Amino acid sequence: MRAITITEPGGPDVLAWTEVPDPEPGPGEVVVDVRASAVNRADLLQRQGHYPPPAGASAYPGLECSGVVSATGPGVSGWQVGDVVCALLTGGGYAERVAVPAGQLLPVPAGVDPVDAAALPEVACTVWSNLVQLAHLSIGETLLVHGGGSGIGTFAIQLGVALGATVVVTARPAKHERLRELGAAHTIDYTTQDFVEEIRRITDGRGANVILDIMGAAYLGRNVAALATGGRLVVIGMQGGRKAELDLGALLAKRGSVSATALRSRPMEEKAAIVRGVREEVWPLVESGAIGPIVDRRLPMAQAAEAHRIVESNDHLGKVLLTVD
Ligand SMILES: NC(=O)c1ccc[n+]([C@@H]2O[C@H](COP(=O)([O-])OP(=O)(O)OC[C@H]3O[C@@H](n4cnc5c(N)ncnc54)[C@H](OP(=O)(O)O)[C@@H]3O)[C@@H](O)[C@H]2O)c1
Repeated sequence: MRAITITEPGGPDVLAWTEVPDPEPGPGEVVVDVRASAVNRADLLQRQGHYPPPAGASAYPGLECSGVVSATGPGVSGWQVGDVVCALLTGGGYAERVAVPAGQLLPVPAGVDPVDAAALPEVACTVWSNLVQLAHLSIGETLLVHGGGSGIGTFAIQLGVALGATVVVTARPAKHERLRELGAAHTIDYTTQDFVEEIRRITDGRGANVILDIMGAAYLGRNVAALATGGRLVVIGMQGGRKAELDLGALLAKRGSVSATALRSRPMEEKAAIVRGVREEVWPLVESGAIGPIVDRRLPMAQAAEAHRIVESNDHLGKVLLTVD
């Protein structure tokens, strides 16, 4: 088969569409013939050498895919050759085939294009596990999503609205109209507006009950300032750095919490439990039309370098897909 290999850490041009050995399904695994994968921010870091795959994971990038089951390993039940699926991966999605633990497979939701389904597993699992399992986002609460136009952000808006929250996003202005169409009640231009002031104005001084943050250190102090009493700040990205000072007095006065999580490094059993939860609680929302994959564009897998350039520029909204003919 062919896969995108990283010839050496560096810019997009180190991504090469290369002949590599086919994967074999191990115990409890299936092999998926990939129709599409999606670019995640983490893939850019992996390409640059800043985010090596966890032990035992494929060396090729790609944290999700859609496709068709082409082989099953020993001990797999519930999935058969020919099933149309999408999957949460620990790596290896930028390829014609990938071996994946059966617990990380999902059916393509009814009504979703089998190629576009590649845009769903990583964002659905990340956003649902953080907003629902961890932060217990509830009906009537205010959710602040930083980077509303990201793959993560576009899904978080839709899930937040479906859960009955008022969703506020930060994004560059060119993305605001589309984010309001997706359900954001308020959009904040982080380049000219102070999001702490804005969230206070929007909530009559109360603040956000839950904040889904991708900026890390750069936003930590302001995120705590933007929290409501009993608010939950969940950090899932460090685009603004990893080290910052935390004013525990400010957090304590609000009885607030700060959590930080990563999905990729979680044990297989935890990923399978999250995938089960997504299938039970999120897939019905997708099948009802309340939530959908937000696809900025599709490019052939061989153009992975161009896809990385687009995502690096932040000009995309939602997900950039890489397709296999
Ligand atoms: N922990 C986990 O398990 C996990 C899983 C998946 C993703 N993530 C993280 O989640 C983040 C989003 O991932 P993705 O793949 O969806 O990213 P993406 O589509 O590449 O989007 C990145 C976004 O960052 C926004 N941005 C840049 N500077 C900003 C700022 N100062 N304030 C607010 N937004 C800003 C950009 O929007 P503008 O154009 O509006 O600037 C862009 O939409 C990444 O940091 C990624 O590492 C974490």
